[in-house]
Amino acid sequence: MSEHDETRETDAHSGTETTGHEWDGIKELDTPLPRWWLYIFYASIVWSVIYMVFMPAWPALPGLAGETDHTRGLRNHSERANVAEALDELAEMRASGFAALEGASIDEIESNPELLGFVRAAGEAVFGDRCATCHGVGAQGFVGYPNLNDDIWIWGGSYDEIRHTLQVGIRSEHPDTRFSQMPAFGRDELLSRSEIADVSDYVLSLSGVSADAGAVGRGQAIYDVQCASCHMDDGRGDRAQGAPNLTDQNWLYGGSREQIIATIHRGPYGVMPAWEDRLDDATIDALAAYVFLLGGGEDATARPTGQ
Ligand code: HEC
Ligand code: HEC
Repeated sequence: MSEHDETRETDAHSGTETTGHEWDGIKELDTPLPRWWLYIFYASIVWSVIYMVFMPAWPALPGLAGETDHTRGLRNHSERANVAEALDELAEMRASGFAALEGASIDEIESNPELLGFVRAAGEAVFGDRCATCHGVGAQGFVGYPNLNDDIWIWGGSYDEIRHTLQVGIRSEHPDTRFSQMPAFGRDELLSRSEIADVSDYVLSLSGVSADAGAVGRGQAIYDVQCASCHMDDGRGDRAQGAPNLTDQNWLYGGSREQIIATIHRGPYGVMPAWEDRLDDATIDALAAYVFLLGGGEDATARPTGQ
């Protein structure tokens, strides 16, 4: 390429040959390409030939390359076939996982590592999709949306009770929804401001927070008449009515005096959608087991409904 050519001139300034082209006294230098650049260039030509032989590369008329519209290469590679295969595999795995889950008791799930792994994976995926917006990604809950990791249950924490909650929802549109409604004592003027303040002090005293003794006494009298039918005489709540335990220092709607007063004033009304018509039975089973296994699941016999 750049063999010395007597007819060519060498540029005195740079010591490089010129191409012989000249415009208005400006001469074109014939600078050789850098070696490293040339090697990469040749290597990529070689690579492209190898690639074309083994991988799909050339568009082809229909029929010439089977069903596709391009050559398949010696490796007969097809991204589309790979994706289809992966999807088939996934569907198969899910189908067999859900089939094994059908009718399994929570004990069987817990003692079978394969089922357990399936429930954790499938449950986590659906939970992230459907439940995390309200209960949080880690099921830790928010004000008004219960934490599902702890062993405190409003409606019940056995596998069957959790599954039932998922099927029918809470104050949902399902005809058999779990339902109850605490009166809005302040808004509907069932109790005066000072009565609500007194009964709030009594509620605080139930979970061991000290409050003015006079107020607690007056509050207790109100509680016995207005509240005990749902939250029970001892304040420990009633699962059959979804009335939370008021003695456990765990608050769905917040445990400061102001928050408790606000809750009693407005009457809380937490709504959880029903999932029966939106998720199939097998998915609800997997979700119920997943929630159960988050840490707070209870034996069906641990505590009778209504405590
Ligand atoms: C639109 C918000 C919302 C979504 C979505 C939602 N939940 Fe809930 N969930 C709630 C609320 C609010 C409550 C509490 C109802 C109450 O106050 O009694 C609740 C209660 C529950 C309970 C009962 C807890 C107890 O202590 O008894 C379980 C179990 C539960 N949710 C699981 C789920 C699962 C699993 C999903 C996903 C399929 C889900 N939730 C999706 C709002 C939601
Ligand atoms: C008809 C039954 C019923 C009556 C009567 C009732 N409650 Fe409730 N209470 C409930 C239910 C149900 C909830 C939970 C509502 C929800 O989850 O949205 C609740 C929730 C609460 C909470 C919130 C607990 C938390 O964890 O944040 C407090 C506080 C409370 N009630 C106090 C009272 C007091 C005080 C009275 C009497 C003045 C009273 N309730 C009367 C059913 C009742």
